[in-house]
Amino acid sequence: MNLLELAAHVAHRFQGQYHRPPRWIAAAPGRVNVIGEHTDYNDGFVLPMAIGRYTVMAADFAKGPSNLISIFNPQAGTTAQIDISRKVTRGDPDWSNYIRGVIAGFQDRQVEIPALDIALFSTVPMGAGLSSSAALEVSTATLIEAATGQKIDPIEKALLCQKAEHDFAGVPCGIMDQFISVMGRENNLLLLDCRSRETQLVPVNDPAVAFLIVNTNVKHELSSGEYSVRRQQCEMAARILGVPSLRNAGVNDLAKFQMEKDAVIFRRARHVISEIQRTVDAAKAFEDSDWRLAGQLMYESHDSLRNDYEVSCAELDAVVSIAKEVGENGGVFGCRMTGGGFGGCTVALIKADKMDLVSDKISTEYKRRTGIEAAIFTSRPGPGAQTI
Ligand code: GLA
Repeated sequence: MNLLELAAHVAHRFQGQYHRPPRWIAAAPGRVNVIGEHTDYNDGFVLPMAIGRYTVMAADFAKGPSNLISIFNPQAGTTAQIDISRKVTRGDPDWSNYIRGVIAGFQDRQVEIPALDIALFSTVPMGAGLSSSAALEVSTATLIEAATGQKIDPIEKALLCQKAEHDFAGVPCGIMDQFISVMGRENNLLLLDCRSRETQLVPVNDPAVAFLIVNTNVKHELSSGEYSVRRQQCEMAARILGVPSLRNAGVNDLAKFQMEKDAVIFRRARHVISEIQRTVDAAKAFEDSDWRLAGQLMYESHDSLRNDYEVSCAELDAVVSIAKEVGENGGVFGCRMTGGGFGGCTVALIKADKMDLVSDKISTEYKRRTGIEAAIFTSRPGPGAQTI
């Protein structure tokens, strides 16, 4: 479903539930990160793109009680009710916490939020590392902006959504996912400097290349606990090096670690420091349409995430090695895991005219090696959040 079809679908769901058409429709995309993994919370660079998968919310002023926001979620099979007459806190059902967190963020800014009836629908697969939660947060924020007529600055909006994730979902994420969901642009990657929060668009609109996203359809339980462990290890590395964050360190600083006791921290830091450089180099390579170099940097990023940062898993590694075996002649320039790791998706830069061959090869081989059916799709860099 493209965005307009999806919007029509959600409007239809709204009508079925509330017996009138919606007044607003807001949408926010998921993302893939092309390169720059586990660098955002180290003040580094990331290079994500918004994908053509969205969380869409259709809404109208509530017809019922004036203190309630009702959210009908046909995919979860439940409706959430949020009392907005007092400070919104965590509550049930679980998925509503992303929405609660964003509403609380607007309350903190003294924005007067009206009672609303909402229908929600998403084509961002959940738990696949494509930022379904950021899409839900940013879609909520975009809807509240529309319903209140109060637009907030895009950076503030992304930060408000990140805070919702921290405080209401308990995930100490960086700023990448919410930023790209807010600021994505069609046919552009977004080079985001997570220290200054400056962004630069990197156009990728050559029809000869495409991004292929492979969902391994596994999610290992490790993901959230290990994520905070990695954050702490990076903070420790920065303390040892005497810098505010690993962004301020270079490869030469790695010699300062004492290998007998800091071996793990050393490897974590080596990943982050080298990944920040690879991201800047890759942005340049994409700008120059140097697909071979961009692809090579993607493979290097994967190796570093697997060996030094230890956030890959057998299934992600399987996809990347199959991609390597297909090689440039077969249509693949590069491939890597994307997102937090321990399952989820890979992203590959491929030759567009070899798309079907590459997908078939990856899906057959992945099934043979792991016994699991992968879900494969392609996306151009798409637009960020919007009302329709
Ligand atoms: C998750 C987080 C992001 C980022 C990535 C790793 O997606 O939400 O902030 O840290 O992991 O690059």
